[in-house]
Amino acid sequence: MPKHGLRGGVGAGRSCAVMKIAILGSGRGSNAEAVLCAQREGRLGGAAVVSLFCDVPGARILELGGRFGVPAFQPPTGEFRTRFSPDVEKCWVRAIRDTGADFLVLAGFMRVIKAPLLEAFAGRIVNLHPSLLPAFPGLDAIGQAWRYGVKVSGCTVHHVNATVDGGDIIDQAVVWRDDADSLESFAGKIHAAEHRLLPSVLARLGASQG
Ligand code: GAR
Repeated sequence: MPKHGLRGGVGAGRSCAVMKIAILGSGRGSNAEAVLCAQREGRLGGAAVVSLFCDVPGARILELGGRFGVPAFQPPTGEFRTRFSPDVEKCWVRAIRDTGADFLVLAGFMRVIKAPLLEAFAGRIVNLHPSLLPAFPGLDAIGQAWRYGVKVSGCTVHHVNATVDGGDIIDQAVVWRDDADSLESFAGKIHAAEHRLLPSVLARLGASQG
């Protein structure tokens, strides 16, 4: 079995998608949009987005559901801001499973997930992070890298485990900081790299199930 632990199914290029993805996000949803565009253009191979989940009322990611014909949900989040209580997280597990999803993509999801989700989707959760991990984990990774004065940064897709931004790295893309860059232009280049990286990783993971 491959390192990421995906099992069974058909490969890329076939019409029957078997890696059924729920995307979890908290904000703009530009990466969810990039994945949905890839799906629309037939670039996701043996993977399909079956649902969107958001923990922030009114976040733009929720609007993508209507645009792309994918159900979008904003389940209750409970009393905490940066995580769920175990009971609330179990409700999220049920809601996600009800959509048929068997694979989670955290794309700008700003809560730490714990045992209920990690166990329900063991080995089948990936996260997108806007730095070259293990450099600059945590919040405001682009700002951290900028303030440090790095000449190169980028983005990472990695498996999710109990350590924040600590799971095995699947792939990364490199972004150079030019002398002419502002924080805004540097961030823009990293986001553009994310929009290329995430769909291509998901297509590869979908294909590897064959
Ligand atoms: C992305 O840059 C993603 O890497 C980052 O949030 C942004 C979401 O943008 N995630 C993290 O920082 C997680 N630690 P989007 O909502 O437009 O996809």
